[in-house]
Amino acid sequence: MTVHTAGQPPFVDLIAGARPNFMKIAPIVAALRRAAAAGAPIGYRLVHTGQHYDQAMSGAFFEQLGLPHPDVNLEVGSGSHAAQTGSIMARYEALIAESPPAMCVVVGDVNSTLACAITARKAQVEVAHVEGGLRSGDWSMPEEVNRVATDAISNWFFTTSEHANDNLRRSGVDPTRVFFVGNTMIDTLLANLERLRPPDFWADAELDRRPYVVVTLHRPHNVDDPKRLRALLEAVDVGSRGASVVFPVHPRTAKAMRSIADLPARYHLVAPQPYLEFIHLVRHARAVVTDSGGVTEETTVLGVPCITLRPSTERPETVEIGTNELAGADPNAIRSLLQRALSGNWKRGRVPELWDGRAGERIAESLVELARR
Ligand code: UD1
Repeated sequence: MTVHTAGQPPFVDLIAGARPNFMKIAPIVAALRRAAAAGAPIGYRLVHTGQHYDQAMSGAFFEQLGLPHPDVNLEVGSGSHAAQTGSIMARYEALIAESPPAMCVVVGDVNSTLACAITARKAQVEVAHVEGGLRSGDWSMPEEVNRVATDAISNWFFTTSEHANDNLRRSGVDPTRVFFVGNTMIDTLLANLERLRPPDFWADAELDRRPYVVVTLHRPHNVDDPKRLRALLEAVDVGSRGASVVFPVHPRTAKAMRSIADLPARYHLVAPQPYLEFIHLVRHARAVVTDSGGVTEETTVLGVPCITLRPSTERPETVEIGTNELAGADPNAIRSLLQRALSGNWKRGRVPELWDGRAGERIAESLVELARR
């Protein structure tokens, strides 16, 4: 890396755009700050693309995770995939032209990840992909397109699992470009376990006294069609007999929920929860039903039974080693898995290799090394 800003150490851009990015970037910010304080010649610029912009989807996470105010906000907002991705590209391109970073660090698989990776690479800025190498093989998911395309143009890869390492090897990536560092989302989880707090509806909903299941659904395939969403929620209802169901409703899901009027009484519909409240809910749940990838990692580390409403996962270790099972959209599988989880008959699971709370530190060390070249 050869680009320096006048009078500054070389700095890397850290890109964050959508909710799951914030948990993944926070430990990297913290570790880079520590490295710089200890004299390492490295700085960072935190770039928020504005893909998520609400207090509930963005602001609360910055506050709770101690993330500094973004140095730059591209303020792209919502839109179709092409409109959102294109808008991020155009705005990030202008930023790089004005002040080029030494490297662009992208995390995860959202539109912001792909948009900034392509833009940086074309501007001759090296790209590092945190959480590179994940593959679900499910091309109906926009995230799979984002992952494969981002990996195809990344220079460096920070990986969470041996599966990811294998996937990269198979696609021809030179192993010297791959750093197996662990999982920064788990860094954030472990760093915040002592700070968790119940949401304000906790006592009123009697969650301190009754068993409950947490549901999160936001994948377009599951939530955009109200009929399909309703069928999934009914299967969860039948499988959850004897328990309450807490359902923080993602803004995308809220649109389909408007035409589902008569949900069973066991459902508590709540707003998207801030991080500390959400993890508190998950930690004390009897089971979690989700279509999120990140939640399957968190439940694996917390030892909470997790049922994934997708036919495949890009995080197979959560099934092989952890507490996750795939149910697809099969109502029978959803019902029977939930009943089994509620009866306490579930695999115990173990924590995958290097999910130990130190991934951010390892990434910062590597970035400092790369910056010295
Ligand atoms: C995005 C990511 C997905 C990630 C998810 C987490 C892509 C392709 N998808 O999906 O991988 O798991 O974030 O939430 O990048 N909205 C708000 N407030 C906000 C942001 C969005 O109300 O702050 C609403 C808008 O109406 C928007 C809808 O939510 O149209 C969906 O947001 P969008 O960013 O397009 O995708 P997600 O479904 O959130």
